[in-house]
Amino acid sequence: MQINLSDKIFNVITDIVSEKKAACYVIGGYVRDHLLGRPSKDIDFVVAGSGIELAKQVASRLGKKVKVNVFKNFGTAMIKYRDYELEFVGARKESYARNSRKPIVENGTIEEDQKRRDFTINALAVSLNPENFGELIDPFNGLEDLKNKIIRTPLDPGTTYSDDPLRMMRAIRFAVQLNFSVEEYSLKAIFENRERVKIISGERVIDELNKIMATHKPSQGYRLLDKTGLLEIILPELHAMKGVDVKEGKGHKDNFYHSLQVLDNIAAKTDNIWLKWAALLHDVGKPPTKYYDPQTGWTFHGHDYLGSKMIPSVFRRLKLPLGPNLQYVQKLVKLHLRPIALIDEDVTDSAVRRLLFEAGDDIDDLMTLCEADITSKNDAKVRQYLSNFKLVRKKLVEIEEKDHIRNFQPPVDGEIIMKTFGIQPCKEVGVIKNIIKEAILDGKISNNYDEAFDLMLNTGKELGLKPVS
Ligand code: CTP
Repeated sequence: MQINLSDKIFNVITDIVSEKKAACYVIGGYVRDHLLGRPSKDIDFVVAGSGIELAKQVASRLGKKVKVNVFKNFGTAMIKYRDYELEFVGARKESYARNSRKPIVENGTIEEDQKRRDFTINALAVSLNPENFGELIDPFNGLEDLKNKIIRTPLDPGTTYSDDPLRMMRAIRFAVQLNFSVEEYSLKAIFENRERVKIISGERVIDELNKIMATHKPSQGYRLLDKTGLLEIILPELHAMKGVDVKEGKGHKDNFYHSLQVLDNIAAKTDNIWLKWAALLHDVGKPPTKYYDPQTGWTFHGHDYLGSKMIPSVFRRLKLPLGPNLQYVQKLVKLHLRPIALIDEDVTDSAVRRLLFEAGDDIDDLMTLCEADITSKNDAKVRQYLSNFKLVRKKLVEIEEKDHIRNFQPPVDGEIIMKTFGIQPCKEVGVIKNIIKEAILDGKISNNYDEAFDLMLNTGKELGLKPVS
């Protein structure tokens, strides 16, 4: 089959190859995506001989300013040209030691290079050699697998996944990204090799998980991770949510599948990766708080609070960043039950103000999460919940317009307190600040300087402080 490679870059390479009597092929993701009609700017070239040498020749033809980045240890070279990233590597064959992802590499032929690739759809190559320019080299029926939407390994799947266990994650990620299915023998081999995922660095795992998160239906990835036994190893907290217990004829919902539905609901609304993590993890506190009360049935009291406390250890294990994104996810998990408590007609303004204060700028994301959390199959119930949430949103807007709590900065701060009473930083400053904050949130005083100042004077007096004149 002929592939239409029209960019100038390919012709430049063909000219060099023909002059130097070398051989070069486009391989991997670019060919796959080209055939799928997904434009890509990352192009991998495999060369019979030195990839670095060819890269240098290509760069000099493309222009004086074009630079080559050489990675000698890997035998690769990279050129950034316009918005392309061109990577050159010599054809190689690989073998692996049991306890490592690092292969022993030797020079090889194009066929050997294709064999060492992860999936048949990623082993497709296109010739850039003058005698058969544009010809698809497809020794493992990758084209057929592309048509049938199948992820399959060129060699025995057991060897492929055991050699490089990252490929287990990649198989699932590609399946979800491309809406393919992972072939049965692969699924079996992944299950058998699942423990080897432990030798992959956290960064690599999270990279794949985040790619799954970026798809339209990330739940499919988590279902496959579960099916292949990988989930229990990389995210045991999620795996623990699986299953339904029944006592005295009463069961609870399966919290794993519920969380996946919430995740898909969120993915349909936003690209915010951290909101997706919050959706996936919002109920992780349920298994450890599960309790059966003969009167009321299944309860999960405090799962919001406990869940938020569990998030840092998940982030640490997965090597997710521990800064503001972690705090954001923790906050959403901790507050995810709060908006529903504001549904009552006679809820006080104070409760609304407190939620605005605690959620701050993340209040809208919290509401999005709460709406996604409605996964009932009963349409009437869903409609009722959504219209109740509309009322909550209305209340939030009204109170915010009135009291400006969202980015609440107390109108009287520590500096003013210390200056007024002529004191240094001490416990009393914190006590006064807190009393002012609570009074504003409870609506006992308005959110303005004069009322806060008066309260400060009165509280100071009760604490035995005197203003300096
Ligand atoms: N590859 C592999 N095994 C891996 C990683 C990569 O065999 N663990 C091969 C595949 O042939 C792949 C190519 O190297 O197509 C390039 O890898 P990479 O850039 O990671 O993947 P792409 O296929 O380009 O896709 P994506 O950019 O979506 O990751």
